[in-house]
Amino acid sequence: MGSPPRTDDEIRTLVAAAASELATDEYSLLSWLGRRAFRELAARYEDLVSGYRSTRALLGDLDTVIHREVERLYPEAHSPRFAIEERAGQLLVHYASDRGLVAFAIGMIHGAAAHFGEEFTIERVDDGRDPTSACLRLTPVAVEQPGDSWRPAA
Ligand code: HEM
Repeated sequence: MGSPPRTDDEIRTLVAAAASELATDEYSLLSWLGRRAFRELAARYEDLVSGYRSTRALLGDLDTVIHREVERLYPEAHSPRFAIEERAGQLLVHYASDRGLVAFAIGMIHGAAAHFGEEFTIERVDDGRDPTSACLRLTPVAVEQPGDSWRPAA
């Protein structure tokens, strides 16, 4: 077995190879990985995540609390920057990182939503030309609760 990938270029090469091997595209692979990663990270860093009750609250604290703590624990870490805006019931999430991992970020947000029992459709609303920054629009999808019913109880 070789050593783990170290540089962003090595990771990009791996993602491209894995996507081709799995007959999928890089967007699908990265967003799937992001969704899985949220689950793993939320379990591993339970103390950091357990205080949050919603995707919105967690996203609002990514730069100031969560990734800041990651950088404190791992000084070599290189976190993305996020800014959140609320508009007419929708959330705008601005992402910026030299790593250009927007698809991974989308998967992480879907993973966070699943964690909180929420669901969003996520659309990229910038022109998509710059891989190092993106603006995502999150629209809540009503999630049916197990006991939901529109009929009055008999
Ligand atoms: C919805 C919530 C989250 C989003 C959207 C998100 C997004 C991302 C993205 C896109 C990256 C890739 C690096 C980049 O693009 O520059 C990343 C890295 C990372 N995130 Fe998050 N993240 C979230 C929550 C968390 C949580 C809860 C943890 C755990 C406490 C965490 C820990 C990390 C770590 C360890 C890295 C790798 C940093 C490095 O090695 O340089 N993230 N995150």
